[in-house]
Amino acid sequence: MNHTEKVAFETDRFDGLANGEGLMLDRYTSPSPSRKAELDNFLAFAGLPSGQLDILDIGCGRGNYAIPLMQLGHRLTCVDVSINSLQIMLDTVTELGLLNNLSEIFPGDFLSWAGGYKYDAIIGGAVIHHICDCADSITTLFGKISGMLKDGGMVVMKEPNPVFPYRLYYLFTPSMNWQQESGIQYSTKKNIRKAARDSGLSDIRFRNTGLFPFADRSHLIFKINRWLDRSLLIELISQEFMFSATKTGGGVLNANREERTVSGLVRMFWES
Ligand SMILES: C[S@@+](CC[C@H](N)C(=O)[O-])C[C@H]1O[C@@H](n2cnc3c(N)ncnc32)[C@H](O)[C@@H]1O
Repeated sequence: MNHTEKVAFETDRFDGLANGEGLMLDRYTSPSPSRKAELDNFLAFAGLPSGQLDILDIGCGRGNYAIPLMQLGHRLTCVDVSINSLQIMLDTVTELGLLNNLSEIFPGDFLSWAGGYKYDAIIGGAVIHHICDCADSITTLFGKISGMLKDGGMVVMKEPNPVFPYRLYYLFTPSMNWQQESGIQYSTKKNIRKAARDSGLSDIRFRNTGLFPFADRSHLIFKINRWLDRSLLIELISQEFMFSATKTGGGVLNANREERTVSGLVRMFWES
């Protein structure tokens, strides 16, 4: 499958899944304590600098990360191939009165997006393996990410860990299958570290998390996972890992140094 075909496939798939339940697609907008704890875990790992940040969310889906970050006062730019998911996110953002925290929406492939701004932080939840289907495309992705970061800015992402036996797991998860998720085999720590380094990023950190699946649905599993996160076992086999890297260049991030007119930037392509 070439990249154009992959984008078409992902668009159809996530447009179809957008209204589905129980697929972790609402994990951070759900009131469930384990879902909230999972977000807190991600933010604690990220250690974003204080102040109002301009953040780009690649593959934002229904806004599981973007919406809580808006609630914390940051300004989000959201990119996703699935217009149905973006529409759900936009409805939630409107309902929550957060439109002033939504800088821009781009419905389409991140690798084909011209962008035009530089960000304090770029985030992505389980998206690399949907965009990339080989090690080289991970390098292309990180080159683009690095080019869109301000000096001192950081990228923070969470990915499924290829060492987890996903092929078995998907036997019990009818809504997902290995063929659709096969990009996971390339989003290894090794490929990500190399791509980040080659793109001029430094201070690359990884943290494995979650031994057992379904932690987003059960607070007990979440708590067991958090406890096991401290064990050596988790380094060998965990469901996911988080990583972060910083754009070098000598600058020190000052979140408020570049003011932007936020509401004027909101472009809802499908309404125009
Ligand atoms: C597993 S979902 C994760 C959604 C969200 N980040 C979260 O953690 O809930 C992956 C998302 O990536 C989006 N996606 C897939 N390929 C993409 C591409 N080439 N450019 C931008 N988004 C893409 C999908 O539409 C989907 O919303």
